[in-house]
Amino acid sequence: MICDVYLFRKDALILKICSHIKENDLQMVKSVLIFSIPHTDFSNFGEWAVDLYSIEYHRFEAIMNSKTILTHQPDLPVHMTFSEHDWHLLAQYWYPVALAREVSEQPIGTMLLDMPLVIYKMGDEIIVARDTCPHRGVALSLGKNDGQGVVCPYHGLRFGSGGKCNRIPAHPQQKISERFNLKTYAAVEKYGLIWCSLLADKQAEANIPQMPYWDEADYQQLVCPKVDIQCFAGRQLEGFIDVAHFAWVHPDTFGDPDNSEVPDYQTYETDDGFAADYISTVGRYPIGLDQRGAKDFKWLRHFEISVPFTATLTIHFPNDAKQVIMNAASPMTARTTRLFAPICRNYDKDLPVEDAYDFNLKIFEEDRLIVENQKPEYLPLDLSLEAHFPADRSSSMYRKLLRKHGFSPLFAA
Ligand code: FES
Ligand SMILES: [Fe+2]
Repeated sequence: MICDVYLFRKDALILKICSHIKENDLQMVKSVLIFSIPHTDFSNFGEWAVDLYSIEYHRFEAIMNSKTILTHQPDLPVHMTFSEHDWHLLAQYWYPVALAREVSEQPIGTMLLDMPLVIYKMGDEIIVARDTCPHRGVALSLGKNDGQGVVCPYHGLRFGSGGKCNRIPAHPQQKISERFNLKTYAAVEKYGLIWCSLLADKQAEANIPQMPYWDEADYQQLVCPKVDIQCFAGRQLEGFIDVAHFAWVHPDTFGDPDNSEVPDYQTYETDDGFAADYISTVGRYPIGLDQRGAKDFKWLRHFEISVPFTATLTIHFPNDAKQVIMNAASPMTARTTRLFAPICRNYDKDLPVEDAYDFNLKIFEEDRLIVENQKPEYLPLDLSLEAHFPADRSSSMYRKLLRKHGFSPLFAA
């Protein structure tokens, strides 16, 4: 069926949303409308159309046309791919923004939740700031650190400890106003990564997800190179906790095409998310290696998920060997995710770390093909929008919890 959807203001037609909308898309359109105007009676078409037009029309247009929104509020990114509602919730959490080993006194640029960031060091101090010169908006990541701070390439303003401006070459004698200081964010180093939160209190303790075994003496720590994926972080994270795809997506790395049935498993809520214990006969040694005498071994995969986008997977190998992988999906935008993956293990510690990097990269590349080709690109937290089977217990739980934490039903459309 093809039909038109119209919005009315009082009795006048003000907006024709889509001229040719397929029946399947109607549910999506309805959900967008409900999401755009919460607390509004959906049956009362005429009245909520007024609200939609005045409050969220620009947002709705962006969703339908996949455009970003231009904002004019100083604390928000200039270009927003998230709704303001989701952005404000997301910006309170912590995400990795760089590998600790790539951060030096010379500035590097990145992005978190649409916010361009510059990262540099002054001695031991790590500064994460908005990558925008307060003078005329040039990216400071293009500058160089001269030992006393990062020098903007346009007019030479220099930013040192705490992001404070300590030089204005055009007016060397003038007292420097605070207005020239960089906007800085809470940042800490943990698990070989630099973590940042755009809205967390800088004085409060950083609320970073726990990684089991990382600090234990007989464990080796590895931090894989980062991987950029063109997808929403919620879709990526859900792929990491999915236990039904091993036989289909990973037969060249660790999966077994003849072992696709998923035994039942349970999930349970935790303080910052949920956990799941999945026991199966799907191994995790690389295909081609012998299974080290472990045929029919029952593999326990213990997942701990921290809302919104971090999960750890502890894999229990034979002979009490364990490997923990943290999947920390950092949302650069609503459609670009930078994946960071610290790993710790208590076996194979004498093997080259590059082998572990390569193996994990190969697995992530197999997942990339899938996650970059899912539609819709957002994660539908409204469970009625996709079909589910029992092996999806974890992803259903994930979606329910995100909803409980206040994220939009079409997260992040
Ligand atoms: S824009 Fe940076 S110093 Fe003028
Ligand atoms: Fe996978």
